[in-house]
Amino acid sequence: MSFDLVLFGGTGDLAWRKLMPALFQAFRHGSLPAGGRILGVARDALDDSQYRALIRSRFNEVELAKRPSPEEFDRFAAMLHFLRMDLSQPQDYQRLADKLRERNADIVVMYLATAPSLFTVACEQLAAAGLNTENTRLVLEKPLGHDLASNRAINETVRSVLSEKQIFRIDHYLGKPSVQNLFALRFGNALFEPLWRRETIANIQITIAEDLGVEKRGAFYDSTGALRDMVQNHALQLLCALAMEPPINAHADAIRDEKLKVLRSLKPWTPQALGPDVIRGQYMSGKMGGEIVPGYRDEPGVNPQSMTETFVALRAEIANWRWAGVPFYIRTGKRLAARDARIVVNFRPAPHAIFHSPLGAANRLIIHLQPKDGLELHLLAQGQDNRQARSAQSLTPVHLDLDFDKRFGSERVGAYERLLLDVIDGRLNLFVRSDEQEEAWRWVEPIMESWRNDPSGPRPYAAGTWGPSAASAMIARDGHCWNEEC
Ligand code: BG6
Repeated sequence: MSFDLVLFGGTGDLAWRKLMPALFQAFRHGSLPAGGRILGVARDALDDSQYRALIRSRFNEVELAKRPSPEEFDRFAAMLHFLRMDLSQPQDYQRLADKLRERNADIVVMYLATAPSLFTVACEQLAAAGLNTENTRLVLEKPLGHDLASNRAINETVRSVLSEKQIFRIDHYLGKPSVQNLFALRFGNALFEPLWRRETIANIQITIAEDLGVEKRGAFYDSTGALRDMVQNHALQLLCALAMEPPINAHADAIRDEKLKVLRSLKPWTPQALGPDVIRGQYMSGKMGGEIVPGYRDEPGVNPQSMTETFVALRAEIANWRWAGVPFYIRTGKRLAARDARIVVNFRPAPHAIFHSPLGAANRLIIHLQPKDGLELHLLAQGQDNRQARSAQSLTPVHLDLDFDKRFGSERVGAYERLLLDVIDGRLNLFVRSDEQEEAWRWVEPIMESWRNDPSGPRPYAAGTWGPSAASAMIARDGHCWNEEC
């Protein structure tokens, strides 16, 4: 099968940081179908060989194990081509059409790795140039809009030129092996299903903590914030994977229908809940790895009076039979104490205590997403067999530890590699449908609205900590604590 992958934003940050390394890995693993061409598109005045030289130099910033040898790069680079285009110019799309006609590939993937403000014009112009044929697949990067209305506007334009099955909305968290394992855990194993409900689960915590700050993306981030950047998409997709009903099969729409039901069941915000149940924070200067790092407002590209949140913690509930009353706590932020994404499922304590168990010890399933990928099942066991322990009937916390990196090797297919191959194969399972996205925006909008009307702004937290103390107070109100605090 031949394919053309047109990479709009071909010299941009995403292209060289994520997409080119992922394409190279797919090439190295022999999974990229032969007969492919990757066509970088941007406004820069480059020819093919200059583009290849640019990509080659960028590979020096990729981790060593994922860097091509000179010989490997030469073979990979034979696929790389470049076309100079200004996305606002209709005649440039004609030139693209001519270029694609040279080969008439079986599949043409248009990957919009550009600013979202260009999505609408690019789609309209691709259609005007006749580039929305049956064999076209369109990939859209997040953020898709900045609120419900702008998201809908983009989706309407896109759907007016292509059918839903040709549209691949990326949420790269769904491409992570650890997230696919979450689906495997829930729907490939019967063990937890009877326990996966309100009767046995006390609360679920989703943490996506980053130790990095905003890096070079200050200007973008300052107009986005953690709610739009992480909660509306990645965190809610994780919540869907955790809370959805088993789909009738593994087809894309069967999975997406169930995720959509979760989003629709999220308890709507009331003005009373918005204050205590949603905490926003912004990092100040602090110590990380022994060094002082600047506060958010001192980062390049950030407004020195910025009110943008770099941290969000919230308490959600899903109003359905399975989950009524179970709090789902979501927490994400930049410059936190560690890079650590994990889901913690806290089970209810034994209904009647005949043993003495240490305070806070409970049955708990920890699903590590990154940097570690694995499962920990926490139980209580009879430990030391000494007289004191026997007479006190006291139990000790122990855990089973399943390390997927060790079991499967840490060189598993990365998120972007997997997702790019899925686009080429036409598999939509790990992509987000427009109605899911809209529902997620609908749910976060009241939060954005309440923040707009609240001059108090985000709460400060020192870089290198777990965020504002109000996030701990929020969860403590329910008698629970964040995993690292218990
Ligand atoms: C992106 C966000 O979607 O996800 C970034 O825009 C964030 O701000 C990144 O850093 C986190 O992804 P990962 O794979 O490093 O957890």
